[in-house]
Amino acid sequence: MNSAQQHGSALMNNYGSPTLEFESGRGSELFTADGTRYLDFAMGIAVNCLGHSNPKLIDALTKQAQTVWHTSNLYRIKQAERLGQRLVDNTFADKVFFCNSGAEAVEAGYKVIRRYFYARGESHKHRIISLRNSFHGRTLGAIASAFNPMHCDGFIVGDAGFDQVEFGDLEALKAAITTNTAGIVLEPVQGEGGIRPVPKGYLASIRALCDEHELLLMFDEVQSGVGRTGSLFAYQQLGVVPDLLASAKGLGGGIPIGACLATDRVAAAMTAGSHGSTFGGSPLATAVGNAVLDELLREGFLLDVQLAGIHLRSGLQDLIDQYPALLSQVTGLGLMLGLRCHTDAAALIAKLQAAGLLVVKAGGNSIRFLPALNVTHEEINEALAILERVLSDYSEQP
Ligand SMILES: Cc1ncc(COP(=O)(O)O)c(C=O)c1O
Repeated sequence: MNSAQQHGSALMNNYGSPTLEFESGRGSELFTADGTRYLDFAMGIAVNCLGHSNPKLIDALTKQAQTVWHTSNLYRIKQAERLGQRLVDNTFADKVFFCNSGAEAVEAGYKVIRRYFYARGESHKHRIISLRNSFHGRTLGAIASAFNPMHCDGFIVGDAGFDQVEFGDLEALKAAITTNTAGIVLEPVQGEGGIRPVPKGYLASIRALCDEHELLLMFDEVQSGVGRTGSLFAYQQLGVVPDLLASAKGLGGGIPIGACLATDRVAAAMTAGSHGSTFGGSPLATAVGNAVLDELLREGFLLDVQLAGIHLRSGLQDLIDQYPALLSQVTGLGLMLGLRCHTDAAALIAKLQAAGLLVVKAGGNSIRFLPALNVTHEEINEALAILERVLSDYSEQP
């Protein structure tokens, strides 16, 4: 028997052996083959931002699929040009590079940072500082920058050009800057690390340090971007503007796409042939990305995200007040919320799943709530009721 047969699957074992499987989805709901319904507040880890089987996204996808779905960046792609222009029109950026995932968008950003200094004849400036507890994806550069031993062990040799400092420690950050430092990368709201927004004052001080030392500031908004926090990107409500930004996840509403955004000054180093991606910016992915933006940029959409976020947050706060022995704190922005637990978060998540509510674990023993951005207040009430029921069962145990 070969190893694939032993595991009952030809897939590598890096995801373990999940058993729950869905056959269909609609809005905030997922259904198994036997018709069991789940309320999805994980949304593919902040990916299906407009819910499952969204008719507008299906329409954009099928129309494009029936026309042309892949050509190559050897040719002009008008859907990519339009999506790029709309990202530029609605952010700090002047230029966009499209790829297929968050890690690729992050990697593109790291390459742009290095290339920027190389083009200025300052290739000694190549090191990038990151914050502890970050997550930037699973490529070699991304794991080296986040420096989580669980992700790095057996993969990374040396420091791979990254330095790391404690989240929130400005003095440590100042001390880490050397003549070789090129940039600083951070998530404006840490996601995997435990839904932790970077305090505004700290963020402003980091921007000031970058300006003082001529460093580039890169925001990883793979999870916090595309409306998730109630603004198109989280930085827009934190009052600090980066030089580069990585986006992905919600940008395709479930179709793989990533984007690296940058100012003209920074992007100028990316001359023809300096970087590329076979699939990046395909007509299919960018047509769907445009359909996602049609919704997000619609008048009132982001306000509704904010209102839904306030509703969910206040419901979670009520549960904390009701169950202080089990829960401790609600964190995050908009519909990117974390619930810090005193009880074991993983065990609570398993009970919620058994009760029909899907959520995700994050660092700091917390539970992540990442519902669709168009989640209704009734669906939020239903999720809170499931949570309440599960928590009250806990309290009844001896
Ligand atoms: C902040 C952040 N950066 C990067 C990534 C990596 O994205 P992907 O899994 O699409 O490569 C993630 C994924 O969870 C993320 O949350």
